[in-house]
Amino acid sequence: PEPIYRARRQFMQQSLALGTAAVAVGGVATATAKPSFVADADVSSPSWLSQKLAEASADTATLDDKLTPYEHVTSYNNFYEFGYNKDDPAKHSDTLKPHPWNVEIAGEAEKTGSFNLEDILSKVELQERVYRLRCVEAWSMVIPWIGFELGSLLKQFNPTSRANYVAFTTLEDALQMPAQGNAFSTIDWPYVEGLTMAEAMHPLTLLAVGLYGKALPNQNGAPLRLVVPWKYGFKSIKSIVKIEFTQKQPPTSWNILAPNEYGFYANVNPEVDHPRWSQATERRLPSGLFSPNIIDTQMFNGYDEVASLYKNVDLRKNF
Ligand code: MTE
Repeated sequence: PEPIYRARRQFMQQSLALGTAAVAVGGVATATAKPSFVADADVSSPSWLSQKLAEASADTATLDDKLTPYEHVTSYNNFYEFGYNKDDPAKHSDTLKPHPWNVEIAGEAEKTGSFNLEDILSKVELQERVYRLRCVEAWSMVIPWIGFELGSLLKQFNPTSRANYVAFTTLEDALQMPAQGNAFSTIDWPYVEGLTMAEAMHPLTLLAVGLYGKALPNQNGAPLRLVVPWKYGFKSIKSIVKIEFTQKQPPTSWNILAPNEYGFYANVNPEVDHPRWSQATERRLPSGLFSPNIIDTQMFNGYDEVASLYKNVDLRKNF
Protein backbone atom coordinates (compact mmCIF):
# COMPACT_ATOMS: atom_id res chain seq x y z
CA PRO A 1 0.00 0.00 0.00
CA GLU A 2 1.15 3.50 -0.87
CA PRO A 3 1.32 4.87 2.74
CA ILE A 4 3.75 2.08 3.66
CA TYR A 5 5.96 2.85 0.69
CA ARG A 6 5.88 6.55 1.54
CA ALA A 7 6.85 5.85 5.13
CA ARG A 8 9.68 3.61 3.95
CA ARG A 9 10.88 6.26 1.54
CA GLN A 10 10.82 8.94 4.22
CA PHE A 11 12.83 6.67 6.48
CA MET A 12 15.41 6.16 3.72
CA GLN A 13 15.67 9.87 3.05
CA GLN A 14 16.17 10.61 6.72
CA SER A 15 18.76 7.85 6.94
CA LEU A 16 20.63 9.24 3.96
CA ALA A 17 20.54 12.69 5.52
CA LEU A 18 22.33 11.21 8.53
CA GLY A 19 25.22 10.36 6.20
CA THR A 20 27.86 8.02 7.53
CA ALA A 21 25.81 7.20 10.62
CA ALA A 22 23.20 5.62 8.36
CA VAL A 23 25.77 3.36 6.72
CA ALA A 24 26.35 1.73 10.06
CA VAL A 25 22.67 0.85 10.38
CA GLY A 26 22.20 -2.61 8.89
CA GLY A 27 19.56 -2.74 6.16
CA VAL A 28 19.80 0.84 4.95
CA ALA A 29 22.37 0.01 2.32
CA THR A 30 20.27 -2.84 0.97
CA ALA A 31 17.10 -0.74 1.10
CA THR A 32 18.65 1.81 -1.27
CA ALA A 33 19.49 -0.95 -3.78
CA LYS A 34 15.82 -1.54 -4.53
CA PRO A 35 13.14 0.74 -5.93
CA SER A 36 11.18 2.36 -3.12
CA PHE A 37 7.75 2.16 -4.76
CA VAL A 38 6.45 -1.20 -5.87
CA ALA A 39 2.91 -1.72 -7.09
CA ASP A 40 0.88 -4.75 -6.11
CA ALA A 41 -0.16 -5.06 -9.73
CA ASP A 42 0.83 -8.06 -11.76
CA VAL A 43 2.63 -6.94 -14.91
CA SER A 44 4.15 -9.84 -16.77
CA SER A 45 7.76 -9.41 -17.83
CA PRO A 46 10.52 -11.85 -18.78
CA SER A 47 12.59 -13.01 -15.80
CA TRP A 48 15.73 -11.15 -16.94
CA LEU A 49 13.75 -7.89 -16.89
CA SER A 50 12.04 -8.57 -13.55
CA GLN A 51 15.44 -9.22 -12.00
CA LYS A 52 16.95 -6.09 -13.51
CA LEU A 53 14.00 -3.99 -12.24
CA ALA A 54 14.36 -5.41 -8.74
CA GLU A 55 18.03 -4.34 -8.73
CA ALA A 56 17.24 -0.72 -9.65
CA SER A 57 18.62 1.80 -7.20
CA ALA A 58 16.03 3.79 -5.25
CA ASP A 59 15.50 7.46 -5.94
CA THR A 60 17.15 9.40 -3.14
CA ALA A 61 16.07 12.86 -4.32
CA THR A 62 13.50 14.65 -2.25
CA LEU A 63 10.47 15.51 -4.35
CA ASP A 64 7.69 16.58 -2.01
CA ASP A 65 4.85 16.00 -4.49
CA LYS A 66 2.50 13.19 -3.60
CA LEU A 67 2.74 10.22 -5.97
CA THR A 68 -0.14 9.64 -8.37
CA PRO A 69 -1.61 6.24 -7.44
CA TYR A 70 -0.69 3.35 -9.73
CA GLU A 71 -4.25 2.80 -10.92
CA HIS A 72 -4.45 6.37 -12.23
CA VAL A 73 -1.01 6.25 -13.88
CA THR A 74 -2.06 3.12 -15.74
CA SER A 75 -5.67 3.92 -16.63
CA TYR A 76 -5.60 7.59 -17.71
CA ASN A 77 -3.31 7.57 -20.74
CA ASN A 78 -2.53 9.18 -24.05
CA PHE A 79 -1.42 6.52 -26.52
CA TYR A 80 -3.30 7.26 -29.72
CA GLU A 81 -2.14 4.03 -31.35
CA PHE A 82 -4.86 2.42 -29.20
CA GLY A 83 -7.58 5.07 -29.44
CA TYR A 84 -8.32 8.66 -28.47
CA ASN A 85 -10.10 8.16 -25.13
CA LYS A 86 -8.06 8.19 -21.93
CA ASP A 87 -9.15 4.66 -21.04
CA ASP A 88 -8.58 3.21 -24.53
CA PRO A 89 -4.88 2.37 -24.05
CA ALA A 90 -5.52 0.36 -20.85
CA LYS A 91 -8.47 -1.42 -22.49
CA HIS A 92 -7.00 -2.12 -25.91
CA SER A 93 -3.22 -2.48 -25.64
CA ASP A 94 -3.15 -6.25 -24.97
CA THR A 95 -2.30 -6.68 -28.64
CA LEU A 96 1.12 -5.07 -28.13
CA LYS A 97 3.89 -7.67 -27.73
CA PRO A 98 6.80 -5.94 -25.99
CA HIS A 99 9.12 -8.99 -25.89
CA PRO A 100 11.34 -9.70 -27.68
CA TRP A 101 12.02 -6.10 -28.74
CA ASN A 102 14.70 -4.61 -30.96
CA VAL A 103 15.83 -1.01 -31.23
CA GLU A 104 17.57 0.27 -34.33
CA ILE A 105 20.34 2.82 -33.75
CA ALA A 106 20.98 4.81 -36.90
CA GLY A 107 22.42 7.99 -38.40
CA GLU A 108 25.37 10.13 -37.39
CA ALA A 109 27.28 7.72 -35.15
CA GLU A 110 30.35 5.49 -35.52
CA LYS A 111 28.40 2.48 -34.36
CA THR A 112 24.89 1.71 -35.62
CA GLY A 113 22.72 -1.39 -35.98
CA SER A 114 19.88 -3.32 -34.44
CA PHE A 115 20.13 -4.22 -30.75
CA ASN A 116 17.80 -6.24 -28.61
CA LEU A 117 16.47 -4.74 -25.41
CA GLU A 118 18.09 -7.32 -23.19
CA ASP A 119 21.54 -6.42 -24.61
CA ILE A 120 20.84 -2.71 -24.27
CA LEU A 121 19.83 -3.10 -20.62
CA SER A 122 22.82 -5.29 -19.81
CA LYS A 123 25.06 -2.25 -20.36
CA VAL A 124 23.20 0.27 -18.20
CA GLU A 125 22.29 0.72 -14.54
CA LEU A 126 18.60 1.06 -13.77
CA GLN A 127 17.51 3.77 -11.37
CA GLU A 128 14.24 4.86 -9.91
CA ARG A 129 13.35 8.50 -10.65
CA VAL A 130 10.24 10.20 -9.30
CA TYR A 131 9.28 12.82 -11.89
CA ARG A 132 6.36 15.14 -12.55
CA LEU A 133 4.70 14.52 -15.93
CA ARG A 134 2.89 17.61 -17.27
CA CYS A 135 0.69 17.03 -20.30
CA VAL A 136 0.09 19.88 -22.76
CA GLU A 137 -3.64 19.30 -22.03
CA ALA A 138 -3.01 20.84 -18.56
CA TRP A 139 -3.19 17.75 -16.36
CA SER A 140 -0.25 16.26 -14.51
CA MET A 141 0.91 13.23 -12.54
CA VAL A 142 3.87 12.25 -10.36
CA ILE A 143 5.34 8.90 -11.36
CA PRO A 144 8.15 6.73 -9.94
CA TRP A 145 9.80 5.63 -13.18
CA ILE A 146 12.52 3.03 -13.50
CA GLY A 147 14.97 3.67 -16.27
CA PHE A 148 18.42 4.88 -17.22
CA GLU A 149 19.89 8.08 -18.54
CA LEU A 150 19.44 8.31 -22.30
CA GLY A 151 22.91 9.90 -22.50
CA SER A 152 24.53 6.78 -21.01
CA LEU A 153 23.14 4.78 -23.94
CA LEU A 154 23.84 7.33 -26.68
CA LYS A 155 27.52 7.63 -25.70
CA GLN A 156 28.03 3.93 -26.45
CA PHE A 157 27.49 4.59 -30.17
CA ASN A 158 30.05 7.41 -30.49
CA PRO A 159 27.89 10.06 -32.17
CA THR A 160 29.83 12.10 -34.77
CA SER A 161 30.24 15.90 -34.73
CA ARG A 162 27.32 16.09 -37.19
CA ALA A 163 24.90 14.64 -34.63
CA ASN A 164 22.91 17.75 -33.64
CA TYR A 165 19.61 16.06 -32.86
CA VAL A 166 18.22 12.70 -31.78
CA ALA A 167 15.07 11.40 -33.50
CA PHE A 168 12.82 8.70 -32.01
CA THR A 169 10.23 6.47 -33.69
CA THR A 170 7.43 4.35 -32.21
CA LEU A 171 6.56 0.90 -33.54
CA GLU A 172 4.38 0.91 -36.64
CA ASP A 173 2.27 -2.23 -36.81
CA ALA A 174 -1.50 -2.02 -37.12
CA LEU A 175 -1.84 -5.61 -35.87
CA GLN A 176 -0.24 -4.70 -32.56
CA MET A 177 -1.49 -1.09 -32.51
CA PRO A 178 -4.99 -1.31 -33.97
CA ALA A 179 -5.82 2.42 -34.11
CA GLN A 180 -2.95 2.86 -36.61
CA GLY A 181 -5.26 1.13 -39.06
CA ASN A 182 -8.08 3.60 -38.47
CA ALA A 183 -8.84 5.41 -41.74
CA PHE A 184 -9.93 8.55 -39.84
CA SER A 185 -6.74 8.84 -37.78
CA THR A 186 -5.27 12.35 -37.90
CA ILE A 187 -1.74 11.26 -36.99
CA ASP A 188 0.57 10.17 -39.78
CA TRP A 189 2.02 6.95 -38.26
CA PRO A 190 4.47 6.08 -36.89
CA TYR A 191 4.56 8.57 -33.99
CA VAL A 192 7.87 10.43 -34.12
CA GLU A 193 9.67 12.75 -31.71
CA GLY A 194 13.01 14.47 -31.31
CA LEU A 195 15.38 16.30 -29.00
CA THR A 196 18.46 18.44 -29.47
CA MET A 197 21.67 16.58 -28.65
CA ALA A 198 22.12 18.72 -25.51
CA GLU A 199 18.60 17.84 -24.32
CA ALA A 200 19.16 14.16 -25.07
CA MET A 201 22.43 14.15 -23.10
CA HIS A 202 20.98 15.98 -20.09
CA PRO A 203 21.10 13.74 -17.00
CA LEU A 204 17.37 14.26 -16.33
CA THR A 205 16.44 12.68 -19.68
CA LEU A 206 15.44 9.09 -19.09
CA LEU A 207 14.62 6.01 -21.08
CA ALA A 208 12.10 4.21 -18.88
CA VAL A 209 11.45 0.47 -18.79
CA GLY A 210 9.32 0.41 -15.66
CA LEU A 211 7.20 2.27 -13.16
CA TYR A 212 6.26 1.56 -9.55
CA GLY A 213 8.92 -1.16 -9.47
CA LYS A 214 7.29 -3.17 -12.29
CA ALA A 215 7.85 -3.38 -16.04
CA LEU A 216 6.05 -0.68 -18.03
CA PRO A 217 2.46 -1.70 -18.69
CA ASN A 218 1.67 -1.64 -22.43
CA GLN A 219 -0.50 1.46 -22.07
CA ASN A 220 2.46 3.41 -20.65
CA GLY A 221 4.73 2.62 -23.61
CA ALA A 222 6.19 -0.84 -23.06
CA PRO A 223 8.88 -1.91 -23.26
CA LEU A 224 10.91 1.32 -23.70
CA ARG A 225 9.78 4.95 -23.63
CA LEU A 226 11.31 8.37 -23.31
CA VAL A 227 10.71 10.58 -20.26
CA VAL A 228 11.70 14.25 -20.50
CA PRO A 229 10.29 15.77 -17.30
CA TRP A 230 10.68 19.48 -18.17
CA LYS A 231 8.79 19.13 -21.47
CA TYR A 232 5.12 18.55 -22.22
CA GLY A 233 4.22 14.88 -22.10
CA PHE A 234 3.87 14.48 -25.87
CA LYS A 235 7.69 14.58 -26.17
CA SER A 236 7.86 11.41 -24.04
CA ILE A 237 7.43 9.00 -26.96
CA LYS A 238 6.35 5.44 -26.20
CA SER A 239 7.30 1.95 -27.45
CA ILE A 240 10.46 3.13 -29.21
CA VAL A 241 11.88 1.02 -32.06
CA LYS A 242 14.35 3.48 -33.57
CA ILE A 243 16.79 6.10 -32.31
CA GLU A 244 18.59 8.13 -34.97
CA PHE A 245 21.30 10.78 -34.69
CA THR A 246 20.51 13.53 -37.20
CA GLN A 247 22.13 16.68 -38.48
CA LYS A 248 18.83 18.52 -39.04
CA GLN A 249 15.91 19.02 -36.67
CA PRO A 250 13.70 15.93 -37.13
CA PRO A 251 9.93 16.12 -37.76
CA THR A 252 7.72 15.49 -34.70
CA SER A 253 4.16 14.15 -34.75
CA TRP A 254 2.24 16.93 -32.95
CA ASN A 255 4.18 19.64 -34.73
CA ILE A 256 3.30 18.09 -38.10
CA LEU A 257 -0.36 17.94 -37.06
CA ALA A 258 -0.72 21.50 -35.72
CA PRO A 259 2.50 23.55 -35.99
CA ASN A 260 0.90 26.68 -34.51
CA GLU A 261 -0.12 24.75 -31.37
CA TYR A 262 2.74 22.34 -30.71
CA GLY A 263 6.37 23.34 -31.17
CA PHE A 264 9.52 21.27 -31.38
CA TYR A 265 10.80 22.43 -27.97
CA ALA A 266 7.55 22.01 -25.98
CA ASN A 267 9.15 23.11 -22.71
CA VAL A 268 6.63 23.41 -19.89
CA ASN A 269 6.07 27.15 -19.63
CA PRO A 270 3.26 28.78 -17.61
CA GLU A 271 3.86 32.09 -19.42
CA VAL A 272 3.24 30.82 -22.94
CA ASP A 273 -0.35 29.72 -23.36
CA HIS A 274 -1.59 27.14 -25.81
CA PRO A 275 -3.62 29.03 -28.46
CA ARG A 276 -6.81 27.44 -27.08
CA TRP A 277 -6.18 27.33 -23.28
CA SER A 278 -4.01 28.69 -20.50
CA GLN A 279 -0.87 26.86 -19.39
CA ALA A 280 -0.60 28.80 -16.10
CA THR A 281 -2.20 26.03 -14.02
CA GLU A 282 -2.67 22.29 -14.19
CA ARG A 283 -5.00 19.62 -12.82
CA ARG A 284 -2.90 17.29 -10.66
CA LEU A 285 -4.38 13.80 -10.89
CA PRO A 286 -6.31 12.28 -9.30
CA SER A 287 -8.80 15.11 -9.59
CA GLY A 288 -12.59 15.20 -9.58
CA LEU A 289 -15.49 17.56 -9.93
CA PHE A 290 -15.53 18.40 -6.20
CA SER A 291 -11.76 18.30 -5.70
CA PRO A 292 -10.30 19.55 -8.98
CA ASN A 293 -6.83 19.81 -7.42
CA ILE A 294 -5.67 22.75 -9.56
CA ILE A 295 -2.09 23.86 -8.92
CA ASP A 296 0.23 26.44 -10.49
CA THR A 297 2.38 25.21 -13.34
CA GLN A 298 6.10 25.77 -12.79
CA MET A 299 8.60 26.95 -15.39
CA PHE A 300 10.31 23.89 -16.89
CA ASN A 301 7.88 21.87 -14.73
CA GLY A 302 10.05 22.82 -11.74
CA TYR A 303 13.29 21.46 -13.24
CA ASP A 304 15.25 24.74 -13.15
CA GLU A 305 18.53 22.94 -13.79
CA VAL A 306 17.71 22.82 -17.51
CA ALA A 307 17.38 26.63 -17.87
CA SER A 308 20.99 26.94 -19.05
CA LEU A 309 20.12 24.85 -22.15
CA TYR A 310 17.89 27.73 -23.33
CA LYS A 311 20.07 30.75 -22.45
CA ASN A 312 19.95 32.15 -25.97
CA VAL A 313 16.58 30.76 -27.02
CA ASP A 314 13.44 32.91 -27.28
CA LEU A 315 10.98 30.57 -25.55
CA ARG A 316 7.95 32.42 -26.95
CA LYS A 317 9.04 31.83 -30.52
CA ASN A 318 10.48 28.40 -29.81
CA PHE A 319 7.49 27.03 -27.87
N1 MTE B 1 3.79 8.15 -27.64
C1 MTE B 1 3.14 7.55 -28.63
N2 MTE B 1 3.78 6.68 -29.41
N3 MTE B 1 1.82 7.81 -28.92
C2 MTE B 1 1.13 8.73 -28.18
O1 MTE B 1 -0.07 8.96 -28.45
N4 MTE B 1 1.18 10.36 -26.33
C3 MTE B 1 2.04 11.31 -25.67
C4 MTE B 1 3.20 10.62 -24.94
N5 MTE B 1 3.81 9.61 -25.78
C5 MTE B 1 1.80 9.41 -27.10
C6 MTE B 1 3.14 9.05 -26.84
C7 MTE B 1 1.32 12.17 -24.74
S1 MTE B 1 0.33 13.35 -25.43
C8 MTE B 1 1.49 12.08 -23.39
S2 MTE B 1 0.79 13.22 -22.32
C9 MTE B 1 2.23 10.97 -22.78
O2 MTE B 1 2.71 10.04 -23.73
C10 MTE B 1 1.33 10.26 -21.80
O3 MTE B 1 2.03 9.25 -21.11
P1 MTE B 1 1.23 8.31 -20.10
O4 MTE B 1 0.05 7.76 -20.82
O5 MTE B 1 2.20 7.25 -19.68
O6 MTE B 1 0.81 9.20 -18.94
